[in-house]
Amino acid sequence: MTVKDLSRADTALRGRLLWFVGRPEEQGEAAVRHIEDGLLVLEAGRIVAVGETAALRPQLPAAAKIQDHAGKLIVPGFIDPHIHMPQTQVVASWAAQLLDWLNTYTFVEEQKYGDPAHAARGAAFFFDELLSNGTTTAVAFCSVHATSAEAFFAESERRNTRMAAGKVMMDRYAPDALTDTPRSGYEESKALLGRWHGRGRQLYAIAPRFAITSTPEQLEAAGTLSREHSDCLVQTHISENLEEVATAKRLYPDCTDYTAIYEKYGLLGRKSLMGHSIHLSESERQRYADADAVAVHCPTSNLFLGSGLFDWQATRDPKRPVRIGVATDIGGGTSYSMLQTMNEAYKVQQLLGHRLDAFALFHAMTRGNAIAIGLDHLIGSFEPGHECDAVVLDARATPAMAHRMETVTTLAEELFILVTMGDDRAVEETYVMGEKKKPRQRGA
Ligand code: GUN
Ligand code: ZN
Repeated sequence: MTVKDLSRADTALRGRLLWFVGRPEEQGEAAVRHIEDGLLVLEAGRIVAVGETAALRPQLPAAAKIQDHAGKLIVPGFIDPHIHMPQTQVVASWAAQLLDWLNTYTFVEEQKYGDPAHAARGAAFFFDELLSNGTTTAVAFCSVHATSAEAFFAESERRNTRMAAGKVMMDRYAPDALTDTPRSGYEESKALLGRWHGRGRQLYAIAPRFAITSTPEQLEAAGTLSREHSDCLVQTHISENLEEVATAKRLYPDCTDYTAIYEKYGLLGRKSLMGHSIHLSESERQRYADADAVAVHCPTSNLFLGSGLFDWQATRDPKRPVRIGVATDIGGGTSYSMLQTMNEAYKVQQLLGHRLDAFALFHAMTRGNAIAIGLDHLIGSFEPGHECDAVVLDARATPAMAHRMETVTTLAEELFILVTMGDDRAVEETYVMGEKKKPRQRGA
């Protein structure tokens, strides 16, 4: 082991550290790193060393502040790769399925985000909720209005969170107050991108909403923007609902399937986050793999809207594994908690005869999602050089959890209880770049 120079370390987090260096589904325990009494040593919010407390503590300078969570689990901050900022007041709307839900509730609420004051209030609430749930990075859709993206990034910069977001581009099949044009959508997105992409921890994600609400001309413009800024993520929706699939195919009759629409406009690539990706053919999955595009599974949303069951095994077929992200999709989704999201992801796979284990579930919402959004060199694990976003978890947070924990003897059992029974109450603290940022404490 090389001896590190810790003389400039300013902070250390002590606890039961858990992170991943590989995929537990494929590599088993070799993918897991777990230190029962561990120390994460930080310099200006970045990890400079990780190891046993007994070995590292004597090397810390006297002025270094130790955040002592001994006995508590500390994992990398959760990552939510598909969420809608202007849908906080859409959650739990009693709709039929996707298209009815969009028209009856979602497009009504999103119109309010043209008002900067409403957008600022919504963004503040949104970030409070994410950080209360231990989510330190998200890839978010804002409304069509540039004001909503401005509000998002201003709030994120204030909290120093690593976030990606973009204004949605949509130029048809929505109320006038929610549509842009191929030209204005391109220009406003480009201006926002120029202002925010790479500023501090902020990243721009180009956001053509989906093929139904974009004309071919707009998808063309989105493709051009993504070619001009090939380091930006692209986020959209695809194959979520059977009526949506049929409508998209009808609107793009020259495309053989839904994936072909995005392919045609250069929107299926290694930076593409393809929200939902449920009703895909083998050919479409093969083309995702060839393009290295990401299928983003949104389990609470898919169950709530009756959209369908995402087939994890088919997506990860070892012959051509497709990268998977797992996300909340608030407000089609019903919980901000990535723990609850993994709970539902587990159940969806159970219905399909596939059993994800506790390590795979924790991997998915940390390192797995970091890989999905191409940020695994910065976040999602506890490797030296990474930014220190972390969550302190308490598997005894509620009486029912504490009672259940009485019989637990292994880490895997504890993790499984956390994803099955846990939510924001199990998040004791959220660290962003080594600083405490959980806005609402338990009982407060
Ligand atoms: N498809 C197009 N827009 C949306 C959205 O806002 N939510 C979901 N779940 N699906 C969509
Ligand atoms: Zn969505």
